[in-house]
Amino acid sequence: MAVRRVNPDQPAEFAFSAENLAWAQETIAKYPSGKQASAIIPLLWRAQEQSGGWLPEPAIRAVCDLLGMAHIRGMEVATFYTMFQLSPVGTKAHVQVCGTTPCMLRGSRDLISVCQHRIHEHPHTPNSDGTLSWEEVECIGVCANAPVVQIGKDTYEDLTAEQFEKVLDGFIAGKPLKPGSQTGRTASCPAGGPTSLTDQSLYDGSTIDAWRKRFEETSEATDHAQEATSPSSPAGSSSAAAAPAVHPAALAAIANAGLVKELEARGGGKAMSAGELDKIKADMLRDRVIAAAQAAQDPELLSEPRGGKGDDLSLIWGVADKMAEKLNSIGVWHFDQIAKWTPANVAWFESRLDGFKSRVTREKWIEQAQKLASGWRPDSKAGERPKD
Ligand code: FES
Repeated sequence: MAVRRVNPDQPAEFAFSAENLAWAQETIAKYPSGKQASAIIPLLWRAQEQSGGWLPEPAIRAVCDLLGMAHIRGMEVATFYTMFQLSPVGTKAHVQVCGTTPCMLRGSRDLISVCQHRIHEHPHTPNSDGTLSWEEVECIGVCANAPVVQIGKDTYEDLTAEQFEKVLDGFIAGKPLKPGSQTGRTASCPAGGPTSLTDQSLYDGSTIDAWRKRFEETSEATDHAQEATSPSSPAGSSSAAAAPAVHPAALAAIANAGLVKELEARGGGKAMSAGELDKIKADMLRDRVIAAAQAAQDPELLSEPRGGKGDDLSLIWGVADKMAEKLNSIGVWHFDQIAKWTPANVAWFESRLDGFKSRVTREKWIEQAQKLASGWRPDSKAGERPKD
């Protein structure tokens, strides 16, 4: 990149036009008290626009005076950013060609050759009629659409030498082409068009409808399953535990396993209407969900003790009379019921036994119940603390 120095030929003075001065004061007022210096970039840019596309040194000083800044600070900003031109530029266009690696690999050298042939061999030097000038700059942030040039506030992207010539023709004719990608792609989407998510059903709503229908079906089946296994379901259910919430995807997996064979068996091999088929499918799903939920989670619960008399659960050390009553009310009457509890059953009970978290495990109810179910009895009614 060229060393950035102010042009030796400078105008004697600079002053904002009345309109630009009003705009500058409005802009400065947007910044918090004591932070007005932050307005330097927009003010320098406006001064450059007023000066025909370049920033004379008196304009830098005028902006600094407006902002109460030392002149050297304005010089630091103006000489740092390549958006500020320190010498006169073409009256119709000053072309900034990005020469950084992505643009270089995609053909920026060809664009620079066009500049050298059509504008001037050297950068920062206007052409013979003073309408065009060019320079090479570092990355201008549109790398995905390389190679790129910036002219004024706009970028022209995806250029070849031929397309770039047309861009220059547009500026010379006073009819600039539309900025952006010159191959017509939107922003930085794939150059050859989309390669994924191309299924049109994703956009016409049909995929969403299919998923919604499937979700509703599985939700309905879950409701059926929960009704069938709820403790509040009609008396006589020998296994009346509430079914746990099951993710719809898990339901679908359960429902699909062996589906065809079972469908054939349930339908008796006959041709079925769509309605019959749907009903059989719903029944199958419900049965599978209930079976899976019970096998995985549910403890055995009884609506009444077997033979009309339950075991004395207070023989379990840690189960006082009140707790025994509570267990009975849930549907636990016998030692062998507790003896079969799985870790999931323990969690299920503990969530219903307020304030008893971890007691089942800590006090070894299951081990005690297993011994009691096999006929062992403690020395006293108060139970016998299990030995580790
Ligand atoms: Fe050219 Fe980034 S490398 S725009």
